[in-house]
Amino acid sequence: MGDKKIIIAPSILSADYGILADEIEAVEGAGADWIHVDVMDGRFVPNITIGPIIVEAARRATDLTLDVHLMIEDPDRHIDAFVDAGSDMIVVHAETCRHLHRTLQYIRSRGCRAGAALNPATPLACVENVLGDLDMVLIMSVNPGFGGQTCIPSALPKIEALCAMLGSQGLSPDVQVDGGIKPDNIADVAACGANAFVAGSAIFGSDDYAETISLMRERAAGAQ
Ligand code: DX5
Ligand code: ZN
Repeated sequence: MGDKKIIIAPSILSADYGILADEIEAVEGAGADWIHVDVMDGRFVPNITIGPIIVEAARRATDLTLDVHLMIEDPDRHIDAFVDAGSDMIVVHAETCRHLHRTLQYIRSRGCRAGAALNPATPLACVENVLGDLDMVLIMSVNPGFGGQTCIPSALPKIEALCAMLGSQGLSPDVQVDGGIKPDNIADVAACGANAFVAGSAIFGSDDYAETISLMRERAAGAQ
């Protein structure tokens, strides 16, 4: 577990969209590894956020990995648009895919990395048979829809169980956690085996992005 690269992925959901390119450049300069983009459709989740045109704008602002988290019904209808907009990683929710294996294969066939996300109430069994088709598994530590929520503690043993499952299959995709992650709890989730950390309010709500990102990285690395 200990040798996986720590990835800090600020979620632009908490950025100032009026100066989005500046915000992306600021977190890149502050040491972010990826940029996490939260796409919400008002159907799968209660909130509506952004679409491919914002991914396109983010693409112009950075060369960092654009980690695009699709919280949308029927994602198959929109994958091409998000690939064409410049996504590097596309994460679909297992709950939204009737044919998850096919969707993951399609994302990869378009030259993108493929991830699957699980809501807090969704069991690991929903991805158990596609782990070999994944570049990343995303364990949601909040019910998706909004930034600034509190991490749900049951995500931690779920991450441990996922890592055990990956170990038994000899696989090592990135294990990402998203929701309520901050300097105060990142060590606990890293100790469970997560190596990729999304943080929106903790980073964009802080006065010093660089200080927050390096503190998070240091604490995660210390706990691995
Ligand atoms: C939640 C989103 C998250 C969110 C995280 O629905 O998927 O990426 O922006 O925000 P914080 O870090 O504020 O919980
Ligand atoms: Zn997200």
